[in-house]
Parts: sequence; C-alpha cells; structure tokens
Amino acid sequence: MERQNVDYTAYYADVMRVMTGRGLLLGSYDANRKPNVMTIGWGQIGYIWGKPIWTVLVRPSRYTYQCIEHTGCFTVNVPGENLSLAAAECGSTSGRDGNKFDACKLTEQQGANVFAPTVAECPIVYECQVVHRNDVIPDRLADEILSGAYVDGDYHRVYFGHILATRAATDAGKLL
Ligand SMILES: Cc1cc2nc3c(=O)[nH]c(=O)nc-3n(C[C@H](O)[C@H](O)[C@H](O)COP(=O)(O)O)c2cc1C
Repeated sequence: MERQNVDYTAYYADVMRVMTGRGLLLGSYDANRKPNVMTIGWGQIGYIWGKPIWTVLVRPSRYTYQCIEHTGCFTVNVPGENLSLAAAECGSTSGRDGNKFDACKLTEQQGANVFAPTVAECPIVYECQVVHRNDVIPDRLADEILSGAYVDGDYHRVYFGHILATRAATDAGKLL
C-alpha cells in the first residue's frame, strides 16, 4: 500500500479506536530475522523527553518480547477492517510456532528507519526505536488492576519507542 509521511498525531482517535477494538499489529524480527507480528490492545502515543513516543506493553511470555529484547526496535501497524481476522489470529498464535506473515497472508516490508518489519497491507504504520524499557511493578499497582490483569503474573515489560516515522495511506481514515 502506498503511504506518505504524516505527523505522529494524525489519525489519533481512529488509531485508539482500532487498538481497543480489533487491536494493532506490533512488528519485530527475531534473532534469525524471521518477521513476527502480535496483536496489542494496550498502548499510548505521547510526547516524552522531547520526542514522540509509542508506549507498548509486552508480557515476557510472548515471542515478541524475545524479538524486541534482541533488536531494540518495533513497528506499530494499524490494520484496516479487512484485516480483522488476521488481527485475531496474530493475537492467538505465537511466532514461536511458525511465521504469522505467511499464515495470515501478510506482506513483510522492512522499515525504512528501524530493523523491524512493517505490514504492507496496513494503512498506517509507525517505526519505533526503543529508548527506554521498564517493568510493571506489582506492589506499586492498584489492586483492581493487579487482580484483573495479572492473575498469572507475567508482568508486562513497557517499551517506550521513539517514533522515527509515521506513514499513512491517503484514504487511511476510510479503511479503518
Ligand atoms: C485484541 C488483543 C489484544 C492483545 N493485547 C496484548 C498486549 O497489549 N500485550 C501483550 O503482551 N499481549 C497482548 N495480546 C496477546 C498476544 O497478542 C498473544 O499472546 C500473541 O499470540 C503473542 O504472539 P507472539 O508469541 O508471536 O509474540 C493481545 C491479544 C488480543 C487478541
């Protein structure tokens, strides 16, 4: 899909709506450069340290965790409505067991600014370089979140990714 550079705040409301619905696709390479995508439903776009930042939360049990720990980069890909099934599959299968790009008939394109795969079929893509990582600290978390989101532990690692590029198709708004 052809995309142009846009400001990182463009389509903000649409991206949050998709994230809390079908989810977004978090792209990364493993140590052998196998591309992977996993669905994320939590995250935020903001401005910290004088930089535009995507903050994403990844549990250590995810294959994506190993990938981002290895490369220090990720992409956030916003799937259109036509990719709802792919988003569901990428959120329920692991890249440990195969190649989700192949399984979901997605096309990998390496990011122009980071060592991470983008999804060619997605109307909006962010390329991010990790500038900080931190872990959720259970004894500093509100009880209702602890008992709701962390019954099995597996506390998220929080990755802060400097957004080096945001690209969107001209008709992105209509495709979401
Ligand atoms: C809608 C949706 C949102 C999700 N959000 C997250 C998330 O924000 N963080 C996370 O660690 N897992 C999240 N998951 C679970 C992962 O996508 C899932 O465990 C996936 O299979 C991990 O893939 P991987 O092992 O290839 O990394 C979500 C799943 C779905 C379906």
